[in-house]
Amino acid sequence: MINFKQSIAKAIASIVNIDEKELESYIEIPKDTNNGDYAFPCFRLAKELKKAPQIIANDIKSNIQVDENIIEKVEVAGGYLNFYIHQELMTKEVLEEIANHEAYGKSEVGKGKNIVIDYSAPNIAKPFHIGHLRSTVIGGALYNIYKYLGYHTIGVNHLGDYGTQFGKLIEGYKLWGKEYNIEEDPINELTKIYIRINQVCKEDEKVLEQCRMNFKLLEDGDPYCTEIWEKFRKLSLKEFQRVYDLLGSQFDSWNGEAFYSDKMPEVIEILEKSGKLIESQGAKIIDLEDKGISTPCIIQKSNGSTTYATRDLAAILYRARTYDFDKALYIVSYEQTLHFKQVFEVAKLLGIDEKYTNGLKHVPFGMVSLPTGKMSTREGNIVKLEELLNEAIERAKSIIEEKNPELENKDEVAKKVGVGAVIFNDLSNSRIKDEVFDWNQILNFQGETGPYVQYTYVRTKSVLEKAGYMPKIEDIQFEKLLDEASKNIIKLLYNFENILEQVTEKEEPSILARYLIELAKGFSNFYNDNKILVEDKDIQNARIYLTYAVGKVLKTGSQLLGIEMPNKM
Ligand code: ARG
Repeated sequence: MINFKQSIAKAIASIVNIDEKELESYIEIPKDTNNGDYAFPCFRLAKELKKAPQIIANDIKSNIQVDENIIEKVEVAGGYLNFYIHQELMTKEVLEEIANHEAYGKSEVGKGKNIVIDYSAPNIAKPFHIGHLRSTVIGGALYNIYKYLGYHTIGVNHLGDYGTQFGKLIEGYKLWGKEYNIEEDPINELTKIYIRINQVCKEDEKVLEQCRMNFKLLEDGDPYCTEIWEKFRKLSLKEFQRVYDLLGSQFDSWNGEAFYSDKMPEVIEILEKSGKLIESQGAKIIDLEDKGISTPCIIQKSNGSTTYATRDLAAILYRARTYDFDKALYIVSYEQTLHFKQVFEVAKLLGIDEKYTNGLKHVPFGMVSLPTGKMSTREGNIVKLEELLNEAIERAKSIIEEKNPELENKDEVAKKVGVGAVIFNDLSNSRIKDEVFDWNQILNFQGETGPYVQYTYVRTKSVLEKAGYMPKIEDIQFEKLLDEASKNIIKLLYNFENILEQVTEKEEPSILARYLIELAKGFSNFYNDNKILVEDKDIQNARIYLTYAVGKVLKTGSQLLGIEMPNKM
């Protein structure tokens, strides 16, 4: 496809003495279509050229040489230059590109770059809760999109499978393991054991001591403790896997915290040598006061055991060496902002290349407040994700029963709609926002929801089915698509690749989710304004083709977000 932004930047570069790439980065897409397809703000040049932006805009306009087959007109509006792309050309470019590429929007911009994405990371023997859902879904979407843009992506599930709590769990299991059916319902039963042993620890210092001992034994590779720990891990993973199967999540690595147990001595040694590791009340810490972080980073506790932070430091070292990453993203709630600030600061002492420490990035997200009533389990506020997803599927099923009782494969469609609704809801607001989980909103087929995007896709499918044939791209007369609704769609389709790039620049899948809503709305307008199946075959062919193109991009975009599309619903 012609890169219109680039052609504009090139034309401007031949007049002002500024790098083409830089100029290109200034170019905006105006919100109001009356202001053209692209706008170049002259404010940025005002300082350098010592002229008012409007004068610069006029100067450029009178000198610029544009190919009239590409750019129809150039206008000055205030300090902006507005560019109007030749509409028919844009239509041709977009539809041909879609016709000729199985994967529209796919690119190689990330070729040669390695991106580690640390996401999901639930804790063994604890419920996989709604907070982990956000990490799983945001991380999964970023993973797919980076990959689509040609990056080499490594998805890591940094499981919480280590730490002092395992000493307690082992002790509880030793004492009362037979009373609990952990094979059957591992996480619930282990949670009960954990609560009970904690109670005992509070009353009996000796038991607490034994628990600490157990973790030490585990760290030292004691066969009995290791065996029990492995059992907990295996059973928990089996339960987590049910959620991952529902969501369609995949990971390249399952190296959790325990994986780093033998890699921590090296971290401590390096930090020791840096001279920054200091003793404080028996613990080893790094003071970060001079870095503007008032809480020190604890590397080793007074009883000799390591911490969550130490394991993250070992993971950075390992990932730098193993994956040679350009970026390492941590998709973790904003509650852990301080943790990552500390860890990333301490990582600078590990002696690794700056490339790595500069590539570390915490991608925080907001909290989800819970639906009340049925969703709250006895443990209080913890909503189990599996229950939530199953409820979404059930609710989707009853909506389908009501709206389309004749539908085939109702269960399969209900799964796609229910799970898709939950995923879309999680991705449609900017990630840092807190979110209130509201069933009615999430499953509203008319709202800005996953089901609405799916429903629009299904409508494109049924239009194509009604038409009963697919016109050839060679036969499309692009000038038949010059009405406002079609123009709007073409422009959206043209911008798809750019939208994907924006997602990776900001680590913000909501940009794609919002885009899909815009595209779905655009199609509704088109559908309301225009009859698609009409007398005039040329018009009909063009409209069918546009319908097909919308469906294709809705599907591609949704799949990148991790949402599956039904063909009927
Ligand atoms: N298991 C942690 C939790 O549930 C999240 C781990 C995130 N990743 C990391 N490298 N620290 O809070």
